[in-house]
Amino acid sequence: MNAKIVVLPGDGIGPEVTAEAVRVLEAVARRGGHALSFTERLMGGCSIDAHGTALTPEVLADCQAADAVLLGAVGGPKWDDPRARVRPEQGLLGLRKGLGVFANLRPVRVHPSLLDSSPLRPEKLRGVDIMVIRELTGGLYFGQPKGRDVKDGHARAVDTLEYQDFEVRRVVELAFRIAKGRKKKVTSVDKANVLESSRLWREIATGIGQANPDVALDHMLVDTAAMRLVTSPATLDVVVTENMFGDILTDEASVLAGSMGMLPSASIGEQGPGLYEPIHGSAPDIAGKGIANPVGTILSAALLLRHSLGLEPEAAAIERAVDRTITDGCRTADLGGTLSTRAMADEILRRLG
Ligand code: IPM
Ligand code: MG
Repeated sequence: MNAKIVVLPGDGIGPEVTAEAVRVLEAVARRGGHALSFTERLMGGCSIDAHGTALTPEVLADCQAADAVLLGAVGGPKWDDPRARVRPEQGLLGLRKGLGVFANLRPVRVHPSLLDSSPLRPEKLRGVDIMVIRELTGGLYFGQPKGRDVKDGHARAVDTLEYQDFEVRRVVELAFRIAKGRKKKVTSVDKANVLESSRLWREIATGIGQANPDVALDHMLVDTAAMRLVTSPATLDVVVTENMFGDILTDEASVLAGSMGMLPSASIGEQGPGLYEPIHGSAPDIAGKGIANPVGTILSAALLLRHSLGLEPEAAAIERAVDRTITDGCRTADLGGTLSTRAMADEILRRLG
């Protein structure tokens, strides 16, 4: 296997965690005789500093020409002025849109030896294994119109929650395909009691449900889903939802896993390279200290092997190594431990064999 991977370390702890994920990928490549090439590029705040924009057309083109993209995190206080014209997050959104990765897979599993790391009671957490599928290139993040103007003498800001039928259909269909390899259960999350876009979403989901009678479909309002995530998370399996609902629900869901630092994500489209990133942010408060948890990014690298390179055994090997590392009590600071980013990755590499 020959594959080109573009690495976008980004800002804050991004470079620290992506460096470890690349080491893990290199180890896997060495063992399996795969030729993986890695090209680093700037995206986010670091690109604003260098080029005045968060994502240059050249970097986007490099990503589009790659087999997969591995991303750390973007953003930080330096670029946080709400009046700024250029923002690191524009790079991330431009990249998602430019790669056409409309589905963001965010698996949430609770490792048995981290049951006590979550503020929730352990009995609620046992058996939690959720796959949140967040629509990623539409909805409230991208709808038009969007912007500022003046209405009746008052400053006004507008964001639009917009979906076309095909955007809903492709992501919900993907959720059903994924559900068939799991517990054959899909929860479609919307706000159909208020939003027109959610009523379209629900209509389409219902149709797909009827065409797939072997999968149980239920609809849940997003406020209820936010509650269920903490009151009965083990009852959820595949969850599919609008872009911003998914953004919010997955930060909430990360609490189940004990730390934001644990959770990976895969963003995929119909074809072309996938984008792989931990769900956590750039954590400016601990950036440069070498103490960030690299697990979310290392597990994202496993998803990269699975979804973009078709290397399932290698992906599973990384996941097993991470599992064992956690079982053996290795912990970074976010989980109350003392291991550095590098030392945690070393422990994972050792168990990878
Ligand atoms: C995420 C992040 C991003 C998002 C930000 C950094 C734009 O919160 O990936 O969840 O909102 O999508
Ligand atoms: Mg988020």
